[in-house]
Amino acid sequence: MTDIVYLNGQFLALAEARVPVLDRGFIFGDGVYEVIPVYSRHPFRMREHLLRLQQSLAGLRLDSPHTLEEWEKLVVDLIERNELQDQSVYLQVTRGPAPRDQAFPKQVVPTVFLMCMELVAPPRELVEQGASAVSARDIRWDRCDLKVISLLPNVLLRQMSADVGAAETIMFRDDILTEGSASNIFAVENGVILTPPKDNHVLPGITYDVVLELAAAAGIPVEFGHFEKARIRRADELWCTSSTKEILAIVELDGQPVANGKPGPIFRRMYQLYQAYKNEVMRHG
Ligand code: PDD
Repeated sequence: MTDIVYLNGQFLALAEARVPVLDRGFIFGDGVYEVIPVYSRHPFRMREHLLRLQQSLAGLRLDSPHTLEEWEKLVVDLIERNELQDQSVYLQVTRGPAPRDQAFPKQVVPTVFLMCMELVAPPRELVEQGASAVSARDIRWDRCDLKVISLLPNVLLRQMSADVGAAETIMFRDDILTEGSASNIFAVENGVILTPPKDNHVLPGITYDVVLELAAAAGIPVEFGHFEKARIRRADELWCTSSTKEILAIVELDGQPVANGKPGPIFRRMYQLYQAYKNEVMRHG
């Protein structure tokens, strides 16, 4: 975490930033967020992240306190005030402080908070050896397309993998693959990439889009669908993707190896394509 944050119109030191205890983010988890990766001080796909923010706000029936241009300026201004080369900008909007009542307050004064965190790509060893994951029933609500701050199910699900030293929890709703606790999931079967379609059961990941674009450019076929757990367990490869994890191979699921227990050839190709894209495109804005 770096020093300077943005809170409701002011740039200030993190230690100085305060929100009232009756903020609906604190009381109800009534808010949305974004995590925007920044490479060599260039925010990556900022517009796409901010459009997703606007969709999340609309899902909460919360008017955006800023236009796209104003959001962009805030993000850029915050990056300028922090020294890190690679960072992730965390942006949160809540329905603001109000007497505790579940119905919306008449007068909404949203709380807007932005901070920067260091962005550290997964270590080389993890990329080369792959990570482990556990599976769990997707216990979330049915608007998982919205990036909301009420992350209790994700927190509990993620802790299930943390408890056994695994990197991610992969969720299944009625036995059908949805996503990871904080990532999208891809599998590979006979050279074809399998992934769930964008619907209300998954977050429309920005990294998911990048992976699909890279796959299309490389001529790797993709099948969108609702894949049963047994099929995912038998897959040749399994990956998770997010703005902070990039692309990571999952080589063990619930203590069992995925195929031969090593990152597969399509993962290695995608990883290389992603790194090349990062260095040639993302780092140059
Ligand atoms: N999470 N699915 C979920 C549930 C997520 O929380 C995330 C990202 C993703 C991947 O989205 P993207 O590729 O746009 O980062 C998918 C962020 C990083 C977080 O909560 O920290």
